[in-house]
Amino acid sequence: MLGNFSYSNPTKLYFGDDAQKNLSEELMHYGAKVLLTYGGGSIKTNGIYDEVISALRTAGKEVIELSGVMPNPTTEKLYEGAKIAWENDVDLILAVGGGSTIDYAKAVSVSAWYDGDPWEKFYLKQEDPDGSQRIIPVGSVLTMVGTGSEMNGGSVITNHETKLKIGKVFGESVVPKFSILNPRYTFSVPQRQMVAGFFDIMSHIMEQYFSGEDDNTSDYLAEGLMRSLIHSSRIAVKNPQDYEARSNIMWTSTWALNTLIGKGKSQDWMVHMIGQAIGAYTDATHGMTLSGVSIAYYRHILRYGLNKFVRFATAVWDIPAAGKTDEQLAQEGVNALLDWMKEIGVATEITSLGVTEEMLEGIADATFIMSGGFKVLTREDILSVLHESL
Ligand code: NZQ
Ligand code: ZN
Repeated sequence: MLGNFSYSNPTKLYFGDDAQKNLSEELMHYGAKVLLTYGGGSIKTNGIYDEVISALRTAGKEVIELSGVMPNPTTEKLYEGAKIAWENDVDLILAVGGGSTIDYAKAVSVSAWYDGDPWEKFYLKQEDPDGSQRIIPVGSVLTMVGTGSEMNGGSVITNHETKLKIGKVFGESVVPKFSILNPRYTFSVPQRQMVAGFFDIMSHIMEQYFSGEDDNTSDYLAEGLMRSLIHSSRIAVKNPQDYEARSNIMWTSTWALNTLIGKGKSQDWMVHMIGQAIGAYTDATHGMTLSGVSIAYYRHILRYGLNKFVRFATAVWDIPAAGKTDEQLAQEGVNALLDWMKEIGVATEITSLGVTEEMLEGIADATFIMSGGFKVLTREDILSVLHESL
């Protein structure tokens, strides 16, 4: 393990099918006014809203509601929420939903008491809140797994006007103080969203796995998480109500992106950069934007990280090595990934997500190029991955 790092994660997790019973007591640590943030209303039909309201009442809170957080939350919605949080001088933002709602809560938490344009400061310029600036604490009740937002500082906002979807990784003061993780809360997620979330988890792990050549504990952790995800996802797609599978996936998802498995390594993240640019153009479901380009991307970079792709084939997919060249083994690993993607039912191309050939130049321009992977992509590389993904 060659890298230098520090590690700390402030989120207190409550996990299991009675996790929500801890909510009212947890809420006691915060002031009287709670901004309850949620999405398009699924929490009202599946009963989660009622349970959360009941906990808020038990804790004696004054509740201000901020609903309608859309998948891939927008700058307009951020400005609206920041104003409401500031006007009401709230003490806590309680996000009830998936990654979009929790990401949004973090964005509101840093924007409410900031005088300038939060999109420009935190997202375009990638700055952090100034030390003196008030940050409203965030707590979450997770209803859909995939992003890891329940235990990280990530917050992704989309600006439709400029066609940019940008993620900011905030520091510890913005990471949720607590998160309620009840696997049963995820049972009502529609199948397409569910599998998109599964692929998002896989992608988070692969983004951190496909980099570096040193002997690193993080890579062994990543392999274990991938194996668990592949195993449980096969059960969950056949029976989404299988508690054991859904609970394993929920736990895997949290660990896939709470910074642990990236420790001591450089990281890639180019699938996410291309996926986010596609998201900015199409507003497609996040996990599908990743699955749509992954196979073309990994085939494109395979020869630059051949040893790791060989390891992926054998350690994650149990592909026998005997009689094969490294190149063949590496290709078989990526083919196994493709087979699994088809099995769980995620997009394996981007045309079905609304991407047209005319958009490709713009998507390539909107893609941020990172340098931690096996190959630093050029614009031409990105265009070629996009063409191969159509
Ligand atoms: O709007 P509601 O009613 O909540 O419905 C949502 C939404 O339509 C629905 N849903 C969620 N839980 C449900 C449910 N429907 C029925 N029953 C439930 N229990 O699912 C739909 C998608 O929800 P969303 O929150 O958008 O999905 P996801 O968790 O995939 O979040 C996607 C957002 O997170 C960002 C993405 O870019 C995207 O904007 N990401 C955040 C990251 C982070 N914080 O670190 C990293 C990720 O790579 C990702 O970029
Ligand atoms: Zn993701």
